[in-house]
Amino acid sequence: VEYNVIVLAAGQGKRMKAGKNKQFIELLKEPLIIHTLRKFIQDNWCRHIYLVINPLERTEMEMLLTNYSWHKQVIVVHGGKERQESGYQGLLAIKGDEQQRVIMIHDGARPFVEEQHLHALAQAAKQEKAALLAVPVTDTIKRKSGCKMETLDRSTLWAAQTPQAFDYNLIKNAHEKAISCNFLGTDDVSLVEALEMPVEIVEGSYRNVKITTPEDIMRAEMILNQQEE
Ligand code: CTP
Ligand code: MG
Repeated sequence: VEYNVIVLAAGQGKRMKAGKNKQFIELLKEPLIIHTLRKFIQDNWCRHIYLVINPLERTEMEMLLTNYSWHKQVIVVHGGKERQESGYQGLLAIKGDEQQRVIMIHDGARPFVEEQHLHALAQAAKQEKAALLAVPVTDTIKRKSGCKMETLDRSTLWAAQTPQAFDYNLIKNAHEKAISCNFLGTDDVSLVEALEMPVEIVEGSYRNVKITTPEDIMRAEMILNQQEE
């Protein structure tokens, strides 16, 4: 199942407190976004990569792509203020027959996604029109509203990851519906949920973490060292 992927890198990385977009932070001497893009460059099922960036970082990002000779495979797209806007701009950049393929939307800040899970996800999205990688929640989750505390049934809880994969028209419609309702979700699947359409869960790996805070950097380098072995 061939697919296209939108890789989101247009954030600011505020929680990382690095004074720059975390996509440029080096993990074992290579920028975070390079580690992420390589997963898709190396996957034979991946046709095109749409990299969504902050227009102010265009020169820096294009120089990086040129250094790796990836500038022909990676289509650079300008993102927006919110993650959801960046995803929508990525969708608008996909033209013609490319809209027939499964489209994945992935966080540039998740460099550890594995090829077996990309393939399982692409297959699920081809069949079910919407699917995401997720892992069972290991913590006991409490919900507290006012004085009332309750313990949620863990067997029904999943921690959502990316990529999330879709039929192109379904996810484009879901984004446009969200825009017209002023709904801002934290991921793309939530926009499909709002249409009350079914979404398939593909169980992924606990290693597929998002690099968010300074504490994540050391852990990330440990995972990278393991992958190289
Ligand atoms: N992202 C994006 N456009 C935005 C906001 C986020 O493309 N306007 C991307 C980020 O670059 C990141 C992914 O969405 O790869 C997940 O978002 P997050 O982890 O929140 O990254 P940032 O928004 O950059 O970090 P922070 O929220 O700490 O500022
Ligand atoms: Mg953010």
